[in-house]
Amino acid sequence: MGSKYLHEDFKKIIVSEEEIKGIISRVANEINAHYAGKKLLVCGILKGAFIFMSDLIRQITIPLELTFITASSYGQGTVSRGGVKVIEYSDLEKYNHFNILVVDDILDSGNTLCFLKDYLKNKGFANIEFCTLLDKPERREKEIYVKYIGKRIENEFVVGYGLDYGEKYRHLPFIAALNEKVYMK
Ligand code: IMP
Ligand code: MG
Repeated sequence: MGSKYLHEDFKKIIVSEEEIKGIISRVANEINAHYAGKKLLVCGILKGAFIFMSDLIRQITIPLELTFITASSYGQGTVSRGGVKVIEYSDLEKYNHFNILVVDDILDSGNTLCFLKDYLKNKGFANIEFCTLLDKPERREKEIYVKYIGKRIENEFVVGYGLDYGEKYRHLPFIAALNEKVYMK
């Protein structure tokens, strides 16, 4: 699976294309059941969530609207800088009567989602939930409840399917652990 991409930059495949499909269909079913009859705004965090979000929403069968935000806590490396910078692509306050489901690629320290929860509360949202494709529980610094989690993984730096290292590898159709040699360079 995906062997044409498996070169020396990757240690191993962590989530295959097949497994991603299965995860998405399970999570989408849960979302369909939970939000039936409710006003739903799906908000993807750019850039990391863009592939996951686009596959996920096509398995959601209930009405929804969507938007994106940029919330960056990582720079050109693998260590968080702490601060979170937000850019909105719709005026979120206009949507604050919606149930908002924030979609991200991975839950790591929890800093980004904790920050966003307060940010969205301040915008007047009363119903805020999170969905992440991956979760690295060992790295948690802040407690945050994420209702929909695709898969828990070990504490390894991963790339592909939206996730990057220095803006590279986002286009891979699977998720792979990055070889330490790449960021030791
Ligand atoms: P947090 O605020 O520490 O939870 O960071 C979440 C963000 O860090 C994610 O949205 C990713 O953009 C980035 N991130 C965390 N772990 C990884 C990883 O293993 N690979 C690529 N990006 C990651
Ligand atoms: Mg991200």
